[in-house]
Amino acid sequence: MDEQRRRHYLAVMGVQNWIPQAVDGVGSKGKATSPEAVVEVSQVLSAEEIPPWIDEVPPVGNERATGSEPDAAIPQGNPVSRLGWDGLSRQVAQCTACDLHAGRQHTVFGVGNREADLMVIGEAPGAEEDRQGEPFVGRAGQLLNAMLGAIGLRREQVYIANILKCRPPGNRDPRPEETLRCAPFLDRQIALVAPRVILTVGRIAAQNLLKSQEAVGRLRGKDAEFEGIPVIVTYHPAYLLRTPAQKARAWQDLQRVRKLLK
Ligand code: URA
Repeated sequence: MDEQRRRHYLAVMGVQNWIPQAVDGVGSKGKATSPEAVVEVSQVLSAEEIPPWIDEVPPVGNERATGSEPDAAIPQGNPVSRLGWDGLSRQVAQCTACDLHAGRQHTVFGVGNREADLMVIGEAPGAEEDRQGEPFVGRAGQLLNAMLGAIGLRREQVYIANILKCRPPGNRDPRPEETLRCAPFLDRQIALVAPRVILTVGRIAAQNLLKSQEAVGRLRGKDAEFEGIPVIVTYHPAYLLRTPAQKARAWQDLQRVRKLLK
């Protein structure tokens, strides 16, 4: 990617003037070393720097920022762990394993390159994703695209999926029984893609994948893995839209991803 394009993506992320040593801001044991020391953040983009779509997209409140008991099991007799892509997407589309199916417009299976080196895992569909049946298509998705662009990746080059395939009402947090019922689908997607690196965005994705109760702020910057695949934890783009000061840390997480993919 040329320098101008990279700078554009960084500007969209709200990160400017990054210092190249930041790539090595991860210590030899994978511990983050004082991100604030190596990354400068522009809190304020000038009007000309902000692409028009930034103002056109709906407010964060309409998206996931980020009930009930399960009423049926994931269909038996054809274990999810042996399904191929077609069977898996069919089972997700037909799933009634928890009550979320009752309120959905669409299941949101996942999108992108099924042979991707990088898999991005989010929380659950928001209103727009539920309408379109595709993950990260709202304002947070536009920031996610810019974040990927900043490390030289187009959305179509990575595989994007969520912890939950159906939208929780009112964008509430997923419930444990819902994540439990849905987990085999994501597990199988990860096995089929077999990415070299996984990037989790937000607390729900990190905690569920890493089976942890820790906050993102404590999980990020550390060595972690899922089934032998390195996992990089970062903040959810919806959170970054509300808290631009954290974009510097997210940028450092992305550089860890880039380094692992090299
Ligand atoms: N937030 C998520 O975590 N996933 C989506 O697909 C959209 C918003």
